[in-house]
Amino acid sequence: MTDNFVIAPSILSSDFLDLGDVLRTCKSAGADWIHVDVMDGHFVPNLTMGPFIVRHCRRGTDLPLDVHLMMENPERLLEAFAEAGASRLTVHVETCPHLHRTLEDIRALGCEAGVTLNPATPAASIFQALPFADLVLVMSVDPGFSGGTYIPEMVGKVAEIRKEMNRIGSPAWLEVDGGISPETLPEMEAAGATAFVAATAIFKHPDGIAAGIASLREAG
Ligand code: DX5
Ligand code: ZN
Repeated sequence: MTDNFVIAPSILSSDFLDLGDVLRTCKSAGADWIHVDVMDGHFVPNLTMGPFIVRHCRRGTDLPLDVHLMMENPERLLEAFAEAGASRLTVHVETCPHLHRTLEDIRALGCEAGVTLNPATPAASIFQALPFADLVLVMSVDPGFSGGTYIPEMVGKVAEIRKEMNRIGSPAWLEVDGGISPETLPEMEAAGATAFVAATAIFKHPDGIAAGIASLREAG
């Protein structure tokens, strides 16, 4: 980490013909983690990457791989993602009826355990799981695609979760994902977020990946 917050480029918007270059450029531009968006075509409408891509990312960078599992029954593939080299596995509360067990299973596989929630899911739905989580991810768009519409009401949810994390002394990361840009990052940081995922703001920046990362770094 080169600052007091983490920047995690979401490679969903990157050029997969040049994945190796993308990963090298992210690292040299100061990215802290690489965010990998796994979508199953059921929980979310889009279908994207699996353990195969995570394995290639692992070969292409030594940055932590922050793997966001937008999938039903994530338990079935936790081991495969861990073996592929994921550093952290983040599951959706909406897909995990036995959330404590799932988070414990992730840690037992040697990964950090993350929990995330959709915009319409109340903050309190993850409070009981906080002691088992190394990261909480607040979705600030409805998941499924890069370039979604930022939901400003999620600033209040970040603040609510930050308050509860402080109350119980949770050291977990508080990450936000969706519509993060130099315009939206500061209010999320002020609300207590410590890690920022961005696809469009980095990979669609008119001056390139490094400029996109720099613009987020300067905004914080
Ligand atoms: C959304 C994904 C995000 C997405 C972010 O479902 O989880 O990680 O790639 O894209 P932007 O930054 O364009 O909103
Ligand atoms: Zn994501």
